[in-house]
Amino acid sequence: MHKNKVYILSFLIIAFTACNNSNQMNNENSDSTKTDSSTSTGLIPEAKNFQTTIDGKQTNLYVLKNGNMQVAITNYGARIVSIIVPDKNGNPTDVAVGYDAVQPYGEGGDTYFGAIVGRYGNRIAKGKFKLDGKEYTLATNNGANHLHGGNKGFSREVWDAQQQNDSTLVLTYLSKDGEEGYPGNLNAKVTYTVLSNDQLKIDYEATTDKNTVLNLTNHTYFNLNGQGNGTITNHSVMINASTYTPVDSTLIPTGKFESVKGTPFDFTTPTAIGARVNDSSNQQIKFGHGYDHNFVLNTKGNIDAKAAEVTGDESGIVMDVYTLQPGLQFYVGNFMNGSHTIKNGKKDDYRTAFCMETQHYPDSPNQPNFPSTELKPGQQYKTSTIYAFSVKK
Ligand code: GAL
Repeated sequence: MHKNKVYILSFLIIAFTACNNSNQMNNENSDSTKTDSSTSTGLIPEAKNFQTTIDGKQTNLYVLKNGNMQVAITNYGARIVSIIVPDKNGNPTDVAVGYDAVQPYGEGGDTYFGAIVGRYGNRIAKGKFKLDGKEYTLATNNGANHLHGGNKGFSREVWDAQQQNDSTLVLTYLSKDGEEGYPGNLNAKVTYTVLSNDQLKIDYEATTDKNTVLNLTNHTYFNLNGQGNGTITNHSVMINASTYTPVDSTLIPTGKFESVKGTPFDFTTPTAIGARVNDSSNQQIKFGHGYDHNFVLNTKGNIDAKAAEVTGDESGIVMDVYTLQPGLQFYVGNFMNGSHTIKNGKKDDYRTAFCMETQHYPDSPNQPNFPSTELKPGQQYKTSTIYAFSVKK
């Protein structure tokens, strides 16, 4: 009798343990299905979370690879969803803020995570500009001003995508004459290429059938310690710019060029973002709620000259920026407030990411001193930017 009891008890314990283990295994399995099994790091969201129909068009997630680097892109807004590069210990690290599914990109106000913004990236004063004597009126979706192409812009359109090989994705979008108030049918093409040596190249091309204005950029929010991994204020930044374009309280440039010397805008030598970002004695810092300004690059369209360099204080990941563009909008997440759940259940907390948007200067269509952003029929718009990653030990 006593022996039997022991047998029964042992059986129950074994059965209970086995059941528990199998539950754990099921959980592990269901966790692992959240990632794309084709990716070795397991950091890329699952493609099926991006496969749906928006505005009658198919959306998807594309993964580009070359060497140690992987970049995930969705054709919804031609957005970068993830950028995976190794940190100083060789650990794959996702340095781009994004969502793990396509739906949140279309909900609420647009944060522009990873997006291609257009037709005109950045602000146009009061949503008005003149071209060939005719005044055009655009959406005022940022206080009194127009921002990042309007209510929908290019960031909430489904682009046509063609993955050419393991490392290249071509996205195209036809912005119709009059869309968001802009003149001309504009054919836009963006090519993402992951080069060897952990570099991401973005090539932008466009043509129009009527005179129009154009300022395309990529709006990736970077955290070089890994997306969602705390503040970026200890990242060190160098920007190769002797002047910047100061703004009014609505972030429209005054039209002047101001020397960075002796101001919180001097990043000609590497400086922590947080060192001067709250310097309230500086009116420009007050207007921007921190850094949210266009820097006039000394590189003058030379893509071989370094425009900027940022280092993640914890990861040792370094990002160098090279571009053909004349300007760089440096934004440090002053409007981030933790209200969005990003990949891995993290929050988009205040200043947990920064943007380096290579572009023409804000409000150029209304600023005679700024390089022109006009595109005419017969002209080919062509520009490129490279984000190059490495590590500092
Ligand atoms: C930046 C812009 C900021 C803010 C942000 C999106 O490009 O400079 O002022 O609008 O986009 O939240």
